[in-house]
Amino acid sequence: MGTPAPAPCAARPGVAASGADTCAVIVAGGSGERFGDPRGKQFVDLCGLPLMSWSIMAFDRAPSVARIVVVCAPDHAAQVEKDVLSRLSLAKPVELAPSGETRQASVRSGLDASPRDLPLVAIHDAARPLIEVEQIEAAVAAVRADEALAGAILAIRSVDTLKLVEGATIVATPDRSFYWAAQTPQVFRRRSLLAAHKAAEREGYQGTDDASLVERLGGRVRVVESTRDNIKITLPEDLALAEATLERRLLT
Ligand code: CTP
Ligand code: MG
Repeated sequence: MGTPAPAPCAARPGVAASGADTCAVIVAGGSGERFGDPRGKQFVDLCGLPLMSWSIMAFDRAPSVARIVVVCAPDHAAQVEKDVLSRLSLAKPVELAPSGETRQASVRSGLDASPRDLPLVAIHDAARPLIEVEQIEAAVAAVRADEALAGAILAIRSVDTLKLVEGATIVATPDRSFYWAAQTPQVFRRRSLLAAHKAAEREGYQGTDDASLVERLGGRVRVVESTRDNIKITLPEDLALAEATLERRLLT
């Protein structure tokens, strides 16, 4: 809807904050098949900027984040530089890493490019443009606060009644208070996540998120309650919702 983009460099709380201990890994290497736009959903316009710009700006402003790795297809690297990075006056160093065949392989590539001297990594889907600085900080703070944790993920409580179904037959109605829907960012101690990715690769395990890789090794991961705003753009109709939410934020 052509809303002009805000000046991305207007307010930069926490730039060069001491104690920034986190490398953000933003995965943008998917092909967006369900979304179906030939440009790839990470590049479609959202309030005047390519969609992936919004999550990059949020991590750039987050005080806990020292640097950012953007994972994208090697064929898209020039486009990311020209249409995304060069249009945002980012305060933090940004590096590109090549994506892989699966999301898991893309995260691994980003992890390998993340510096060893930053103890935490925040893995985020570029397809979640509505992430806010406060949510990033809450997930990082949760990991920092408890030595026994391998990680913390943003998640929301299930609001629907859930059914376990075989074929078309309901076999159970589990107590929904135990069920949460996982989002990103998912923040981990770098060494824990790297060990989990190496084990998954060795054992041929494919997870649908990063926490599941850590959980299967017995690592403790907690949830940090998030909001329903932090949607993943998957289908074309998700874009209108994201646009409405961003416009509301830009106006208030
Ligand atoms: N992703 C990635 N590398 C892949 C696959 C996915 O970096 N090989 C990224 C996507 O760019 C996205 C995030 O992982 O930011 C979440 O994945 P998803 O929403 O499934 O995006 P796509 O895989 O692009 O979409 P689809 O599954 O519809 O093809
Ligand atoms: Mg996918």
